[in-house]
Amino acid sequence: MILVTGGAGFIGSHTVVEFLNRDKDVIILDNLYNSAINAVKRIEKITGKTVSFIKGDINDRVLLDKIFAQYSIDIVIHFAGLKAVGESVTKPLFYYQNNVSGTLTLLEAMQKAGVKQMVFSSSATVYGDPKHIPVTEQTPLGQPTNPYGQSKLMIEKILQDLYKADNEWSIALLRYFNPVGAHESGLIGEDPNGIPNNLVPYISQVAIGKLDSLSIYGDDYKTPDGTGIRDYIHVVDLAKGHCHAYDYLQKHTGCFTWNLGTGRGYSVLEVIKAFESASGRKIPYKIKPRRPGDIAKSWADCSKAQKELQWQAAKDIDQMMADAWHWQSKNPKGFS
Ligand SMILES: NC(=O)c1ccc[n+]([C@@H]2O[C@H](COP(=O)([O-])OP(=O)(O)OC[C@H]3O[C@@H](n4cnc5c(N)ncnc54)[C@H](O)[C@@H]3O)[C@@H](O)[C@H]2O)c1
Repeated sequence: MILVTGGAGFIGSHTVVEFLNRDKDVIILDNLYNSAINAVKRIEKITGKTVSFIKGDINDRVLLDKIFAQYSIDIVIHFAGLKAVGESVTKPLFYYQNNVSGTLTLLEAMQKAGVKQMVFSSSATVYGDPKHIPVTEQTPLGQPTNPYGQSKLMIEKILQDLYKADNEWSIALLRYFNPVGAHESGLIGEDPNGIPNNLVPYISQVAIGKLDSLSIYGDDYKTPDGTGIRDYIHVVDLAKGHCHAYDYLQKHTGCFTWNLGTGRGYSVLEVIKAFESASGRKIPYKIKPRRPGDIAKSWADCSKAQKELQWQAAKDIDQMMADAWHWQSKNPKGFS
């Protein structure tokens, strides 16, 4: 059985769908801090299968011990964490407590239960401002400028040390680039609380009329149109990457790192254009000064994942925007 922490969230819910489609048994542990129980109901609607759900916190050691005693868990897919970069700067203790300390508690419970397989949600943010692009897994790690990024680096280090101390562990560090889009059914997608932090949910809310206009932070970067370039990946492709990592860990022990992106970068203006053609709606925007900590460009070299996991992203930017818009227009108020 697979324990998915944070499985009611954006990437977690799409990943649970993929595992259920592969006939795996899944149990979700989520405190619903940044998600809704409706996401779990929608997962069941999409797959026609039931999924066990436990509302609880990865910091709750008593609960974790109970879960590992009650269910025959082989592997943990660990999404649970806080992810708002700006908020992490103003609430560093909350972020370190939830992300780092929560992961330590989870790992201790796993160790006690003899469960030694984990897939961890890391991020391209660990590369900081990379000198060479595309970014490979060998690219030197940078200095994340915020506690969120630091928490990802710290957890990667903890997991590497854990494998060094006990080489029965099988660990996948998946460094996501920029997940966007939604399930093709339009039943699950990204539903941020308050003002979205990420570009595509922001554009979607402008398109639906919830927000007036988009702010583009900087149009004077050294890129062809001056706006920042990122590697956007469809969340369903990303979810499938977890299934491939799961398969790999069944056959290998070690602590492995893979970039999950498409290998192609798009500028903010290109993303807006793709969204406008997918939705048929004009996205008004204003140019604002650069934000500290933002980088000009980053995209992934995913050849390691392609070779070792036999995984490759299949969906292009038009599909990503079409699915993001499908989800937003079908669910103007998200899951509520
Ligand atoms: N979305 C991105 O752009 C992105 C990029 C790189 C890495 N990641 C990482 O991927 C993971 C999933 O991201 P997402 O976009 O799906 O975020 P999300 O907020 O939608 O999902 C995270 C889930 O974890 C739950 N959660 C948080 N703290 C918890 C705790 N202490 N105990 C139990 N549940 C808890 C939340 O309620 C939420 O459902 C996160 O670790 C995030 O840092 C996300």
